[in-house]
Amino acid sequence: MDGKEGLDRQKAMELLVKYGEALGAERLVNTNNVCGGVSGASPFVRKFAAKVRNMDAVFSEFNLDSGEGVKILPVKAFTCSLIQGMDPAHWQIQGVAPDAYEFNMRKEWFYARIGIHLMNTCAPYLVGNIPVKGEHCAWMESSAVVLCNSVFGARTNTEGCESTGAAMLTGKIPYWGYHLPENRLGTHLLEVEFEVKTVMDWGLLGYYVGEIVQERIPVLNGIRHFPSFSSLKHFGAAAASSGGVEMFHIVGITPEANSLEEAFGKRTPADILKFGEVERQETYYKLISSAMNRNVDFVVLGCPHYSIEQLWQTCQLLKDKYVHSNTNLWIFTPKAIKDIADRNGYTEIISKAGAILMTDTCPALGHVSPKGVKVVATDSVKQAHYLPAVMGFQTWFGSQEDCIRAAISGQWRGELK
Ligand code: F3S
Repeated sequence: MDGKEGLDRQKAMELLVKYGEALGAERLVNTNNVCGGVSGASPFVRKFAAKVRNMDAVFSEFNLDSGEGVKILPVKAFTCSLIQGMDPAHWQIQGVAPDAYEFNMRKEWFYARIGIHLMNTCAPYLVGNIPVKGEHCAWMESSAVVLCNSVFGARTNTEGCESTGAAMLTGKIPYWGYHLPENRLGTHLLEVEFEVKTVMDWGLLGYYVGEIVQERIPVLNGIRHFPSFSSLKHFGAAAASSGGVEMFHIVGITPEANSLEEAFGKRTPADILKFGEVERQETYYKLISSAMNRNVDFVVLGCPHYSIEQLWQTCQLLKDKYVHSNTNLWIFTPKAIKDIADRNGYTEIISKAGAILMTDTCPALGHVSPKGVKVVATDSVKQAHYLPAVMGFQTWFGSQEDCIRAAISGQWRGELK
């Protein structure tokens, strides 16, 4: 804070100290794993950037809360960039304005200059950023935060542009919330009576429990089928959408819940919930309540960003088929995964079918979509939760197979099986 390491470090430390004091943190903790950045999707940020024409000043303003426009030195902590407002290869068909594209490219150049790795994804764990158990992180995206805490056993709160900006420059973050072992114990017991097997059912389960527990910590008991990584990814994203779940335990599966006793410590559950067929059905109908018209004009896959395995599954369903002339199929993945898809021929299968494989962004966060869309189908609970509110779309939710069938026929025929 004395400025000996540079004005940017000083501003960053001042911000972290204020943030820590506001939350009652007694100290900072070292971090070498930051995932964050400035959003380019906001017209407010772009207006400011157009005025100052200097990315150091933009970073100072939006990441360090300093109007002084300080020079930003290379980051101290390992840092990767979060999802951005567009795909630089498809920005025109995404309906992105030229000034937004220009800002995006300037921002990338700036990020690279200061050593932020351009992963540009909400799923950094798919492309090499897998924190180890107990590691203190500063991550920003809610669907990644919940996996970081629960599945990897690493430790992070849901940070913001400012705190991740300050953390990357200093390698510090306030020691509060999920960094403390005692705050990681379960609060609610969820007895899972329905046999949850599919990614779709894991999404429904997450949406159900998130809405009830909000930002507390559910402990799932009774899971009989070992979940795939894709299932856990969808479960966490769903629970973080309907509630603010940043951590969960699954008895016998996640690293801090080898037993019910370990998951709760000495705590008594605040409530005991159940998820059976009735709860599953109620959750499904709630999720599709915005949808009436079965003529689907936009199908969205890849929220959280699709893994290479999910792209392979998509290709098997799409091979030798064609997307309906009234429908668009956009699939989202990190750029590094798309590079593998290119080599494997998956991108070619997808584009031959008339679909587009996109990177770096998504409709709910980047506000990107084809022109004139009214009705959407998605296999993501998170998109189904946000798209009606953010974009005003009627939104159907179903399995990956239901969605691809809708893209090919132009009609929604998905149902709860
Ligand atoms: Fe990622 Fe966008 Fe979904 S940021 S989690 S693809 S809403």
